[in-house]
Order: sequence, then structure tokens, then C-alpha cells
Amino acid sequence: MSEIIRRNSVENIFVGDPSVTILLAFRRYFVITGRLKFPTDIIYRHKLLSASCGSVGKMDLSIVISLLTIFVVWLWQVFNWVWLEPRKIEKFLRKQGFKGNSYKFLFGDTKEIAESYKEAHSKPLGLHDDIVPRVMPFVLKTINTYGKNSFAWIGPRPRVYISDADFMREVLTKHLSFQKNFRVVNKIYKLLVGGIVEFEEEKWTRHRMKLNPAFHLDRLKHMCPIVQTCCETILNDWKKKMKNGSGVVDVFHYLEAYTGSAVTTALFSHPFDAEMRKCFHLLRDLSLMANIAVKTFDIPGKGYLPTPAHRKAKAMEAEVRQSFRNMVNDRLKKRRAGIEDGRDLFDLFLDELYDENNAKQVDIESIVDDAIGNCKLFYFAGYETTSNLLVWTMVNLAIHEDWQTRGREEVFRILGNRKKLQPDDVSQLKVVNMIIHEVLRLFPPVFELSRVVEEDTKLGNYIIPKDILIQLPIAMIHRKPEIWGEDAHLFKPERFAEGVLKAANGQAAFMPFGWGPRICIGQNFAIMEAKIFVATLLQTFTWELSPEYTHAPYAAFTVQPQHGAPLVLHEIGQS
Ligand code: HEM
Repeated sequence: MSEIIRRNSVENIFVGDPSVTILLAFRRYFVITGRLKFPTDIIYRHKLLSASCGSVGKMDLSIVISLLTIFVVWLWQVFNWVWLEPRKIEKFLRKQGFKGNSYKFLFGDTKEIAESYKEAHSKPLGLHDDIVPRVMPFVLKTINTYGKNSFAWIGPRPRVYISDADFMREVLTKHLSFQKNFRVVNKIYKLLVGGIVEFEEEKWTRHRMKLNPAFHLDRLKHMCPIVQTCCETILNDWKKKMKNGSGVVDVFHYLEAYTGSAVTTALFSHPFDAEMRKCFHLLRDLSLMANIAVKTFDIPGKGYLPTPAHRKAKAMEAEVRQSFRNMVNDRLKKRRAGIEDGRDLFDLFLDELYDENNAKQVDIESIVDDAIGNCKLFYFAGYETTSNLLVWTMVNLAIHEDWQTRGREEVFRILGNRKKLQPDDVSQLKVVNMIIHEVLRLFPPVFELSRVVEEDTKLGNYIIPKDILIQLPIAMIHRKPEIWGEDAHLFKPERFAEGVLKAANGQAAFMPFGWGPRICIGQNFAIMEAKIFVATLLQTFTWELSPEYTHAPYAAFTVQPQHGAPLVLHEIGQS
């Protein structure tokens, strides 16, 4: 401790000294990359050396020696990072029984991964084909070649694939040992979301407990009419496109507008205006950029270089941040003036500012910053996932017309010609519920989850070393015949007639919303939103695939239709 104080005070004494400024800049580089260690004594030693050498012009001998030392240390650490460490980890993993390709210098499997995606995306699928070879081709290839617990190399970092349902649940349940991978994800991904999803341990528990009540069923009941209004807006837009009661609509982006407006109005009590639309578009574009970036490996510090992609991403994030900051400021003004609109997510995010027990320690900027991070997260998580669930529901009901008819019969049986759904109607929609669950099984919007190991941790008989990235392929276990039966690949919503556990033959293997303590906070909201949309849609339209439709599910951040979803709609009672 006293050593740290001594070094810090030495640095403070020499603030303003150009040579120290250069060394501090190097130290900053080492710190932000996170993977390399700065030789901490260098500034102190440099000053001692500089005192003994005397000054040789502006660039004195001491700084040359110090920079050389840094360079040699850096070279050694880079060599360690790209060669020694991967070889050591590979040996360790193989000893544990994991299998995978041998490490290839610097690039690992990145070239093969890129090629596998290129090939998978080059052709569409048949309507009844498994989506996994197109959505996660390399993971599938690795698991098929090396077994259900195997590894691959993203540059010099190994990624361990765990596709055994028991182990997957264990990883997701032990959330303190297997944490979210925020400290190792790339910079663009970090810009995309924030708030609770990147918190861990005590901070996560505190925030999660505070936010949970916003998604309780009694709160959701009140949101039902608001969500239905959002749904009617979209369906009215589609009606306007009909000629003689029929027309072709590419429904994909409309569904994003539906889920975007539902999150904005129901959870944040804010109108879905032009500014909000812009935020959604920016978040979507940022997610596409992050998706490209996560498929490559990161050179330490690359995220901090002003490359065109990073500059663009930062500017986009700044725009989104400013909009949310304005919303937060408006809410703060209202609260100071004693105007309470009701307890929505904004209020919950900002409550810490008003925590009287905490009044003196409150750091306003950091609370507002967390609130902005949470806004980005809830907007992004809320619209992107549910819109993808709905697009695949529409596509599947176009392919399986018998289920479209069964769903419609149920809706008319419960609602008759009544257009407004009551919260109790939503819970009675059993067939619609089964359809939505089957779509979540076969087309899970979040098709994989990842975690990073905090400390060497036991998983069954394996020891997983610290810092290893673990990937859990949700889409794969949702289609395993050993779990779901020989008809696992077929669209059969009736398998969910007696609940999720029965559908999976008694195994807990249905994980579209994750598992364990960090399970999706918005799952009840998402299911309500989906049921309201599907029920209202079934009352209003029949539909089939347009001849232009190409079946090409692909992995962006979520599973999306690569070429959109053009469908032929017929307004009921109009044709
Ligand atoms: C069909 C729709 C949805 C799906 C499939 C889905 C899926 C998921 C999954 C798999 C996770 C766990 C991630 C992990 O463990 O790493 C998650 C977490 C999360 N989801 Fe969702 N989600 C959906 C809708 C929503 C909605 C509507 C919201 C909010 C408006 C939301 C907000 C969140 C948040 C805040 C987390 C992080 C929770 C935490 O870390 O404690 N999600 N979601």
C-alpha cells in the first residue's frame, strides 16, 4: 500500500514533466488494453535515472532507456499473449478432456470461422430445414467433430463450447463464478448496451431487485391496453396497403416499430416520436456493427484507436446518449417539481438519487450514467428480441396454415368479434401460447449465451481456467432429439400443451430467456406483447408466404430473416 502511495506521489510531483507525460500515456495504453501489464516501477525508476544522468537536450538519455525497457516488456507480453499463453491453455484444456483444433499463431480459427459464415450465408434454407447450420455453422462443425464439450480459437483466445444441458444450467446458475463477458467484449458492443446487464455481484443484485417489480404480472396487466394500441397502429398501417382486401407487406421492420413503440410507451411512458424512432435505428445500426466486430478477434487497445468504424460507432452512441440524457433530465425536472406520472422504469432507474439513507454519498453523474446505460439496454433488449420472435411466428404460421387456423379459432372462441383484449383473455390463449413457445424453441432470438470464468472453477469433473470464454449454444439444445424426441426438428406446438417440462420429456432444456438468477427480466412482458400481437393479427388477417420470400435465418445479434419477410396478407371480411 505504502509503495503505491509512494509511486503515486512521485507521479504527482512530476506532473507537467514532458517525459513523465509520455510514460503516463504508455501506462494508460497498458491499463485500457486490460491484457498487458505496465511495468509499474518505470516512472519512479525513470526519475531516479534522469536525476543521475543529468539533462541531454529535451529527450534525455533516461527517457530513451525507459522507453526501451517498456518496449522490451511490451514485446515479451505480446509474445506471451499470442504464443505462450494460448499453448499453455491448450495443454490444460486437452488434459481436462476438451478437444478442438490446435492453436494457429495469432489467428487461431478466425479464418475458418469467417469462411464457414460466408458459405452458410451464401444459400437459403428449405422451409423445414434446421437453422443451426446457417446461424452457428462453426460451432456446429466443432461440436460435431470434437464432441459436446469442445473449444475453438478466436485469435489467441480459446472459446469453450458447452452444449450439455446440465452443464449449461450449472454455468448459468453459478453467476458469480461465470460472469457476463463485459470485461472482454469488444468496444462497439460495450457502446451498445449498459446498465444492469454489465453489473455484477452486489451492484447487480441491488439493481435487479429494484427493477423486478416493474415486470410483475399485476403491473403488466395495466400495460395491456397501451400495448394493444401500439399493435393496432401497425395493423392499421397494413390495412392501408391492401387493395381489394389483399396486399404484400414486408413485415419485418413494422414488427420492430411495434415492439419499439410498446417498450417506449408501456415501460417508459414516453411517446414513440421521431427522436425515439431515430434512437432505435441508431441502436440497430450499432448492433450490426458490433455483430461484425465480435466475429473478429481484438488486438489489445484496438478499440481505442480512432478507426473509422470506432469513430462512427462513438458518434452514433453519443447521439443516442444525448436523447436519453434529455429524457432523464425531463424526468428529473418533473420529480423536483413534485409531478409523479406513475412508477415506470425511469422512476426506478432514478430512485437512487432520492435514497435518503444514502443522501450524502450519492454520486449524481454515475447514477445518471447508469440510468442512460439501462435505457440503452432496455430499449435494445426490448425491441430487437421480441420483433424477431414475432417475425418467425408469422413466417411459421404462413408455412403451417393448420396452426394459423387453430390459433384463429381459439381467438374467435375467446373474443368473438370483440377487438379489445382484456388481461384475462391473454392468459386464456393456450394455443397461441403453445405456438409462441414452439417458435422460441426452433427460432430462439438469443441463439447463444456467453460467460467468462472469474476464477479457476469446477464444472462437473472439469476445471475451467480463469478468463476462459464459455459459449452456450441455446439453439442447438433446443433441437436435440435426445431431449425433445425424434420429431425435435418438426414444428409441433402441441408438444407444449402440458407445459415446458413435459415438452422436453422432463429435462430442463428450454432456455430462450436464459436460466438462473440472470434470466431475462422482461420475459413476461415479451410473452404478453407477443400474445396480444398474434391474437389481434389472427382476428384481422389471414396470410401466406409471398413468392418473393427467401427462407434465410441468419445470426445478426439475434436470429433475423436475412432478406426480410414479405408476406401476402388478406384482411378478414374484406376479400
Ligand atoms: C422474446 C423476447 C426476449 C428474449 C428471447 C430475451 C432473451 C433474453 C436472454 C436469453 C437473456 C439472458 C442473457 C444472459 O444470460 O446472458 C436476457 C436478459 C435480459 N433481458 Fe431479455 N429477452 C426478451 C425480451 C426482453 C424484453 C422485452 C426486455 C425489456 C424490456 C428484456 C430485457 C432484458 C434485460 C434487462 C436482461 C438482462 C438481465 C440481467 O442481466 O439481470 N428482454 N433476455
